[in-house]
Amino acid sequence: MTEGRRALVAGATGLVGGHLVRQLIDDAASSRIVALTRRPLHGLSSPKLDVVDTNFDALDGALQDIAADDAYCTLGTTIKVAGSQAAFRKVDHDYIVAFARAAKAAGAKRFMLVSAIGADPASSIFYSRVKGETERDVEAVGFEALHIFRPGILLGERAERRLLEQIGMELSPFINALMLGPARAYRAIAAETVARAMRAAAASDLAGRHIHTYDAMIHLAGV
Ligand SMILES: NC(=O)c1ccc[n+]([C@@H]2O[C@H](COP(=O)([O-])OP(=O)(O)OC[C@H]3O[C@@H](n4cnc5c(N)ncnc54)[C@H](OP(=O)(O)O)[C@@H]3O)[C@@H](O)[C@H]2O)c1
Repeated sequence: MTEGRRALVAGATGLVGGHLVRQLIDDAASSRIVALTRRPLHGLSSPKLDVVDTNFDALDGALQDIAADDAYCTLGTTIKVAGSQAAFRKVDHDYIVAFARAAKAAGAKRFMLVSAIGADPASSIFYSRVKGETERDVEAVGFEALHIFRPGILLGERAERRLLEQIGMELSPFINALMLGPARAYRAIAAETVARAMRAAAASDLAGRHIHTYDAMIHLAGV
């Protein structure tokens, strides 16, 4: 019997994913981390960490030889980077649902998904609709536990700063303080905190589907 939890991570080269892998490496309860990436993972190495060069268009059967307990998904792009709504949907919906199916086939019992605040399959806003459809279709894969994290703007250092995020970084302490009541769910949140919340949710061993917005993520992360 394997000791410790075995994690699959999609999105490890990203902002939340990078924090997540660093935290998993430092976590004594984690015994193996398999990061599925399309490019090398710079600056992170550990005997626990395997980086697998992955074609997300051909995930079916790709994880056959990998056994996992927990799957973490921090994959995503923007319509601007992807170049079109269809290209965005391919990553933020199709790749994520394909990863969920492959993770389930690899034995994962828990799936931790970073979505976005406002996600709703019935939304008139394309971005929010895709995020909602992804949540719905990942839920249909049928994990014992599905934890969905819906952050507002993510805060953290990235190589290429996006304009909205830059503004969010500078103003977030002031804007967050003004966002009260139901608006709290839209507060900007550190990517590192989201990663901590994902790990805490996985460790909780709670079954069923859980949606975590700002306050729940802060609580789970213990910050
Ligand atoms: N940024 C925000 O303010 C914000 C707010 C709310 C929700 N979210 C959501 O939170 C999640 C994590 O965000 P983040 O800022 O940590 O993301 P990020 O830094 O942009 O990282 C995204 C990850 O997805 C991978 N990826 C993107 N396009 C891909 C493709 N075509 N094929 C394979 N891999 C691909 C990236 O790999 P490469 O490094 O190879 O590109 C990277 O590992 C995303 O789903 C995002 O939509 C973000």
